[in-house]
Amino acid sequence: MRIGVPKETAVNERRVALTPEVAVRVVKSGLAVLVERDAGAAASFGDDGYRAAGATVVATAAEIFGQSDVVLKVQPPSTDEVRLCRAGAALVAVFQPSAQREAVSELAARHVTAFSLALLPRITRAQPMDVLSSQATVAGYKAVLLAATATGRFFPMLVTAAGTLPPARALVLGAGVAGLQAIATARRLGAVVSAFDVRPAVKEQVESLGAKFLELEIAESAETAGGYAKQLSDETHRRELAFIAQHVKDADIVITTAAIPGTRAPILITAEAVRGMKPGSVIVDLAAETGGNCELTEPGSDVIRNGVVIIGPANLPSTLPVHASQMYARNISSFLLHVVKDGALRLDFEDEITRDTCVTHAGEVRKT
Ligand code: NAI
Repeated sequence: MRIGVPKETAVNERRVALTPEVAVRVVKSGLAVLVERDAGAAASFGDDGYRAAGATVVATAAEIFGQSDVVLKVQPPSTDEVRLCRAGAALVAVFQPSAQREAVSELAARHVTAFSLALLPRITRAQPMDVLSSQATVAGYKAVLLAATATGRFFPMLVTAAGTLPPARALVLGAGVAGLQAIATARRLGAVVSAFDVRPAVKEQVESLGAKFLELEIAESAETAGGYAKQLSDETHRRELAFIAQHVKDADIVITTAAIPGTRAPILITAEAVRGMKPGSVIVDLAAETGGNCELTEPGSDVIRNGVVIIGPANLPSTLPVHASQMYARNISSFLLHVVKDGALRLDFEDEITRDTCVTHAGEVRKT
């Protein structure tokens, strides 16, 4: 069985789905690996590294798609890539089927078995495959570095001959995977960090990283049985906005990461709250791509409003392509070895991981 890795074609995408280190693991499991020339170049993984890992390097994407039984990608397949897919082959990438309707129906029409790792259930067994978490770790880390570059202040307290400089005050809203990494990174740089989340369960994790957990009494349950945040009632959301507006006033840095699966990101910082912030303070809105946690965020841009810098970054994992690819490759190879057994694709739709991630199979669209 052949596993193919094309060069990513999306603008500004520097990651690659398989690194040489992980290609070794795939080859050892008895599978052949084909890699497109320069597929890993933007992430500093040269073709020789793939050859040394036992992979074959080919010149074109057409060869990858034409000769592989399973194609591994990072970004959703482009229209051209969908056209290159052959009947009976499988494709693994990260996409929301609802945002890729045309590609999904074309993949089904072509009898391609397509999987999206964006749909993985967040269960213990799936953790080694969890690309959303590994890439959110990268984003949380990088968000703090963006903030550190945009602020006019030091993060740590400095005692110098020129006087004592107080530490930066960072506030992290949403303490999931990205938020916890942002807290840890801001702490390492020396900021005084506080954090807020609607799920009280994260208080302990926030505190274990040396940050202060800001508590807002919430009468309703803000968490689903699966441990995800729920949409708040209008009244609680209003109280939350007022609570956050009070706390952003004192912050030099605000990193927002609040997300509710399957919906637009909740607004946490209103335009009014931004008006109450100190000039020179910085907001990095990690939810920019799903609507933004700040009312004034412009996805993919940096804007200054009332002296506050508001950064709405797109695809931060791609800006740290070495480690983002390494983590991605480990995740996707774990998934690959879950669905491929004895050199063939074995699909057990009783299995939650296979069932939830399979978007098209046998000519049918299974997830919309
Ligand atoms: P996650 O689901 O682990 O964490 C989200 C957190 O937000 C949860 O702890 C949840 O309880 C909290 N939350 C939900 N509603 C809230 C509210 N009203 N107030 C306060 N907290 C609330 O998600 P993860 O993996 O940490 O991702 C965070 C965000 O970062 C997502 O929007 C994701 O799309 C984004 N992201 C952005 C990237 C970029 O390059 N811009 C890259 C990777 C992730």
